[in-house]
Amino acid sequence: MANYHQLFPLIILLISIISPAKTTGNHHGPPPPPLTLNYYEKTCPRFHEIVQNVVVPKQSTHPTTAAATLRLFFHDCMVGGCDASVLVASNPYNKAERDQDINESLAGDGFDVVKRVKTALELECPGVVSCADVLAVTTRDLLVQVGGPNFEVKLGRKDGIESKASNVEGKLGRANMTIDKIIQIFESHKYTIREMVVLMGGGHTIGFAHCKEFQSRLFGPKPDPSVHPKLAERLKAMCANSSKDPTVSAFLDPISAGNFDNMIFKNLLNGLGVLGTDQAMASDPRTRPFVEEYARDSNAFFKDFARAMEKTSVYQVKTGNQGEIRRRCDAFNNLPTGNVA
Ligand code: HEM
Repeated sequence: MANYHQLFPLIILLISIISPAKTTGNHHGPPPPPLTLNYYEKTCPRFHEIVQNVVVPKQSTHPTTAAATLRLFFHDCMVGGCDASVLVASNPYNKAERDQDINESLAGDGFDVVKRVKTALELECPGVVSCADVLAVTTRDLLVQVGGPNFEVKLGRKDGIESKASNVEGKLGRANMTIDKIIQIFESHKYTIREMVVLMGGGHTIGFAHCKEFQSRLFGPKPDPSVHPKLAERLKAMCANSSKDPTVSAFLDPISAGNFDNMIFKNLLNGLGVLGTDQAMASDPRTRPFVEEYARDSNAFFKDFARAMEKTSVYQVKTGNQGEIRRRCDAFNNLPTGNVA
């Protein structure tokens, strides 16, 4: 006669057979499908051409578009994954992500280019291409246009059906945070410190920052001694009237703004970082070796940036029935059901 100890494994096995199966992620069927490179090959064969037809003239006439879109994409992906939730407008029932204070400075050209691409795609293949895919591919194409590295963007993301301002806090860095806090945030998104440095450099080699993001480094009570005196002089003159005109902005890469290159890392080694958090990467022993490496080796910067962007582009994506294909990028298809704050 078998004793309890011999029967125990058998009992566990029986329980696991008769209890309902636990599936990963999706409880109502097979796991969600993976992204693929040729997702729209049959349903919207001119997808890439249509994106290009919008993106190229937009960047040529509005050179701030590439930076605006890259920041928009990054801020979307870090909050609940790359699901275009940052594009959704608030309504009386819901304060959306884009109205959280850190997102209020997202520049209009990013939203505009996505809207134009989506409209062009809707005319050719209605209801087929998600806003999340539009944002991902538009960002990549714009980066290539300003001289950045190419990288593969897999497709088939679905658009999120939730966008809440309250989800944003703690997911994105602020320029007045300590380097410890910035590292902690990137680690919470499963980035290495190396990836964090390369993404920051790639992000801040183009684009602008408003005076309020860095002026505490210039004016009292305790000016930051790590700002190069020449840069401090220039930024102070520029920001002198920023309380009257809060739109005044400085290039994040004061030496080669507009060009996607590794100059930002050389700048940081010379005290020419505009944001406090960027400059801190040149002094902290955990980040400085990567700043030095990318300052010397442009190829390593391009290669690592491309890889980190590819990783970003698939972060927590929704596929299959985990989301929808929005008809317009600034509103959920069903309003306001399910989105009441
Ligand atoms: C290390 C953490 C980061 C902090 C604290 C930070 C902070 C900031 C701040 C304060 C601005 C200026 C915003 C304004 O005044 O309008 C800015 C701009 C920008 N950031 Fe970051 N950022 C970080 C990482 C990144 C990453 C990883 C990317 C993308 C890969 C990125 C892309 C950009 C771009 C492209 C701009 C310029 C936007 C424009 O010109 O419209 N940032 N960032």
